[in-house]
Amino acid sequence: MTDNTDQASAAELRQELADGLVSGGHITSPEVEAAFRAVPRHLFAPGVSLEEAYADDIVAVKRDEHGVYISTISAPNIQALQLEQAELTPGMRVLEIGSGGYNAALIAEIVGPGGEVTTVDIDPDVIDRAAMFLETAGYSRVRVVLADAEGGVPESAPYDRILVTVGAWDIPPAWIDQLAEGGRIVVPLRVKGVTRSLALEREGDHLVSRSQRVCGFVKMQGAGAHDEHLWLLRGTQVALRFDDGNLAEPHKLNGVLAGTPAAAWSGVTVERTEPFANLPLWMMTALPGYCTLAVDTSDGDPGVAVEEGGRWFPFATVEGDSFAYLSTRPAGESRVEFGAHGYGPRGGQVAKAIVEQVRRWDRDYRRGRGPSFTVWPIDTPEDVLPEGAVITKRHTRVTISWPEVEAPGQAVPHPSSEGE
Ligand SMILES: C[S@@+](CC[C@H](N)C(=O)[O-])C[C@H]1O[C@@H](n2cnc3c(N)ncnc32)[C@H](O)[C@@H]1O
Repeated sequence: MTDNTDQASAAELRQELADGLVSGGHITSPEVEAAFRAVPRHLFAPGVSLEEAYADDIVAVKRDEHGVYISTISAPNIQALQLEQAELTPGMRVLEIGSGGYNAALIAEIVGPGGEVTTVDIDPDVIDRAAMFLETAGYSRVRVVLADAEGGVPESAPYDRILVTVGAWDIPPAWIDQLAEGGRIVVPLRVKGVTRSLALEREGDHLVSRSQRVCGFVKMQGAGAHDEHLWLLRGTQVALRFDDGNLAEPHKLNGVLAGTPAAAWSGVTVERTEPFANLPLWMMTALPGYCTLAVDTSDGDPGVAVEEGGRWFPFATVEGDSFAYLSTRPAGESRVEFGAHGYGPRGGQVAKAIVEQVRRWDRDYRRGRGPSFTVWPIDTPEDVLPEGAVITKRHTRVTISWPEVEAPGQAVPHPSSEGE
């Protein structure tokens, strides 16, 4: 193939990618659409075919010693989602945290020559590549900085937008300090093992979310890195993960998998393809022992969370010596019913507690606009915080609050049986 043919097919694939992002609802504004139609993604992914460069998928850049991605060019649909959340306009000053080159070029397209884009990465290889690709693609006006973004990039602050493209567990004070008046931080924030891309704006001494969207990102390295606590229940095959805080008396769960699980069913059904992203957020708000369950099936059947005809989800909760996790069973051809399986002396009760919250979610929160998040300085007293879940991080206290409902707390009769 000649260079000209290559270029023609790259241009065609680029338009097809943009068409797909528009028709899929990922791009919703003309500004973001124009950027995707303009920036040649293949120039930021020289090691892969044109088809791969223009697929709506990540392009791998680097893995760690366990094979886990630590740097990628993010999937276009996730980039579109965050760019829409950012609501960029020409002339803005933007800090991108986590580099690759391509997303910085998309930002540069939208803010135009009157704007300023700085991109920062902790990894010198990523920075070298990004600088080279940005130059080749004609975006040498993007400032490329090698640093741990925990401290932000004070030299180019303040920023109208800080766009974080790596999974964060907390919001370091530098990001808030370096945000311009009326500015916005878009950040994939991990709370109790669940990540949402939040668009956060300052209100006085705290930040308030304007939107929260489902997403996935590689984990933050450096000073902001945070590891979950794992409590192994059977070898390394079955574990409970605690991302914020830990169990007070984890040893009480020793041997908990020896017994027969108890099941409870909610009568609440969903279409198999229907999203229910707010359910784990509601569970973590309502169930103080909320955690996630990790099951490794690579060494054979772990005997837990393997269910006939249904699926399990990694959302779980612990009460003392017992735990339960969310599961499903078929309910007709295209629907499934939510339920829970519990282990331990009070496994049945814990499973019922999950089922109660599934019903509450179904009644009050399933169809609504979902919760809002706020982020407060770490020393904010409890009585100042809004009602809802409070998650205490290293630098901040994060809250998850739900819209008011008319008659909260009333039980809803459901046809399904419990404790089968
Ligand atoms: C998903 S990639 C960024 C993708 C990029 N924005 C693009 O154009 O698609 C995430 C990046 O975050 C970087 N990173 C991780 N921890 C960091 C930290 N503490 N400070 C700065 N960069 C960090 C990684 O090295 C990785 O390159």
